[in-house]
Amino acid sequence: MNDTDTPHPRPVDTRAFRIALGRFVTGVTVITTLARDGRPVGLTVNSFNSVSLDPPLVLWSIDRRGSFYDAFLACDRFAVNVLGAGQRDLSRKFAGIPDERFDDVNIEPGQGGLPLLKGCIAWFECRTRHRYDGGDHLILVGEVDRFEHHPGQELLYFAGQYGIASAI
Ligand SMILES: Cc1cc2nc3c(=O)[nH]c(=O)nc-3n(C[C@H](O)[C@H](O)[C@H](O)COP(=O)(O)O)c2cc1C
Repeated sequence: MNDTDTPHPRPVDTRAFRIALGRFVTGVTVITTLARDGRPVGLTVNSFNSVSLDPPLVLWSIDRRGSFYDAFLACDRFAVNVLGAGQRDLSRKFAGIPDERFDDVNIEPGQGGLPLLKGCIAWFECRTRHRYDGGDHLILVGEVDRFEHHPGQELLYFAGQYGIASAI
């Protein structure tokens, strides 16, 4: 028996669990790819994190019930667009009506035509390297092919609200 086989007590109080998780401050990203028919798809994601420097790996997790789950399950590339403090509306938009997410949004094509959102403070263009079971989510690990970063204040998310950081 290894760690993953060990039975863990389930968090019975889902609401309390969500509130506790909300005490962990994250940045906000929009993760994009191209669906099989070539249409751009994407969603707001705060489960993004770094994994490895060498090779350069990052991860995030996608809800299996989400509209674009099949597209991200199948994709061999995705782009992570890191949102700045002035992009709260984009965060809301990419968590809103699925078919309207790219309406009036400025994009530029990355490698293989990956949709990159203009005005972000960083981008990571990734190749899908691993897919892991994550309960009601699927964990995707990407190897970073190309990245860019630009000056600007980060958009933060915690306790169901947006904020900005101040150094102490
Ligand atoms: C700040 C924020 C962070 C989110 N993080 C994730 C995430 O890490 N993974 C995920 O699958 N959905 C995440 N969501 C939800 C999706 O953006 C989106 O609301 C969800 O995919 C529902 O859209 P659907 O209509 O495509 O199902 C997040 C939403 C917000 C507002």
